[in-house]
Formats: sequence, C-alpha cells, structure tokens
Amino acid sequence: MARIIAVAVPKGGAGKTSTTLNLGAALAERGHRVLLIDFDPQGNLSLSVRAPVGTPTLYTVIKEFIATWEPGLERVIVPSTIPNVDIAPTDVWLNEADEELRSADRREYVLQKLLEPIAPAYDFVLIDTLPYFGMLVKNALVAADEVIIPMQAEFLATQSIAMMLKLVERIQRTGLNPLLRVLGVLVTQVDMRTNMGRQAESYARTEFLGRVSIFATTIRRTVRMAESQAMGQSLFQYDPDGDAAAAYRALAEEVLRATEG
Ligand SMILES: Nc1ncnc2c1ncn2[C@@H]1O[C@H](COP(=O)(O)OP(=O)(O)O)[C@@H](O)[C@H]1O
Ligand SMILES: [Mg+2]
Repeated sequence: MARIIAVAVPKGGAGKTSTTLNLGAALAERGHRVLLIDFDPQGNLSLSVRAPVGTPTLYTVIKEFIATWEPGLERVIVPSTIPNVDIAPTDVWLNEADEELRSADRREYVLQKLLEPIAPAYDFVLIDTLPYFGMLVKNALVAADEVIIPMQAEFLATQSIAMMLKLVERIQRTGLNPLLRVLGVLVTQVDMRTNMGRQAESYARTEFLGRVSIFATTIRRTVRMAESQAMGQSLFQYDPDGDAAAAYRALAEEVLRATEG
C-alpha cells in the first residue's frame, strides 16, 4: 500500500510544489513508483512536469464522484516528464471543486475515496496543496498518512508553521484523520550568502524544539530550481550532480527511514 504524503503549509512560495516534484523524482530514482496529485488550482506542478490537462479534468472527476460515489481518478492520471512518476494534473477549474465539496456528503473524505482504488499501484502518493485552508487542503490532510511542512528560511516564516501544526491537530482531534502524522518541517530556500538566511534555520530549530521534528536535510536557494521547472524537468534530469539534487536525495532517504520506522 502506498504511503500518502501531503506537502502543505498555509503560505505561498514556501516550496510546496518544488518539494512535491523533486521528492517525487528522488523517490522514483530509487525505483519507487510515484503518483503526484496536483491539488493546487494554480496548476504549477502540472506545468512544471508538462502534464497536459485533458478531459475529464480533476475537477470533473470530483464533481461526478460527489454525485455518484463511483471513483474515477484513473481517468485523469498521465505519465509526467519524470521517469517512474505519474501525475493527476489540474488547472484553474479545481477552484470550483472547493465550492462543490462544501455541500457534498462526507465532504472531507472525497480525495481519500478517490485514491483508494489507485494507491495500491504506487509506493508513494505525494499531494501538492494550495496555501489556503479550505476543503481542498482538508481533503488532502484526510487522505494523507503524513505531512511534510516546507518552511522558507526567512523572517516570519515560523508563523505559518505554527498555524499548520494547529491545523494538523484539529484534523486529528476532530477524528477526521486521527493518525495523521507530521513527518517533518523542511527548511527550504536557505540563502547562505546572508546572515538572515543562515540564521533562519537555527531559529526554526530552536523555536520548534520538542514540538515537531525538522528534517536534518535543508534545501538551499539555487537558480537551478526555477531553471529546471522552466525546462519541465526535475533537478534529477536538469542538474543531477548538483547540490539541490543531492539535498532532495538526502530528503528521500530521511522519508524512507521514517517510513520504515
Ligand atoms: N531551493 C530553491 N531555490 C531557489 N528557488 C526556489 C527553491 N525552491 C523553490 N524555489 C522557487 O520559489 C518559488 C516558490 O516555490 P514553490 O515550490 O512554487 O512554492 P509553493 O508551492 O509553496 O508556493 C518558485 O518560483 C520556485 O521555483
Ligand atoms: Mg505551489
């Protein structure tokens, strides 16, 4: 059975999409079968792996599911540009799903139910999410076994981590997903050239000491990230010997170890 991991934090630009893509690629490089779910209507992940949105769309699948409770997610899954990585791509229409979900039966469980028949074909399902805590994010957190919380290494970023931890607690306490587990906070976009960049990481480690685990791996700021995405590639295709690819390999290692434990 696949491990389902949501990459979530209620802040844009934190590194959710980049992490979903490159952690997925790193796991695939190790021979794992990976499915990415683009659950952010901005569709950045879909664009970054050149996944065309066909018909039906993720939105129509959700809409039809709400009416019939017959899963049909396989109808939107396509291969990505990354070897061994499939994706359920999305476009801006997914925004409408947030609205539709509000009035659905068992509205928080729709993604979980859609994934049920699909997940056994994969080792990992990674869900990219949007920075706004609505029905889409709730569905992602209910479908997931684990959450990775990216944190941009900058002033004030710890606030969004504190908020995310509260959201996870709420999902657990309400019984929506009592077993949801925070895999860790991932410090991203560390700028080693500035004091602030270097300090942001150690500040986060002190601030959340004992409250949440922070991955030993951190991701440094690099122009390779935007470049690779613009080329429709993962770091493993664009700059396989670079530091950023090495960092995501180390992250995959930590995720695999946590999975075993
Ligand atoms: N390690 C990094 N170094 C440099 N730029 C990065 C890095 N990680 C992400 N970015 C860039 O920062 C922006 C926001 O990252 P993204 O992953 O899209 O965040 P989110 O999905 O949380 O909004 C993107 O333009 C991305 O290319
Ligand atoms: Mg994103």
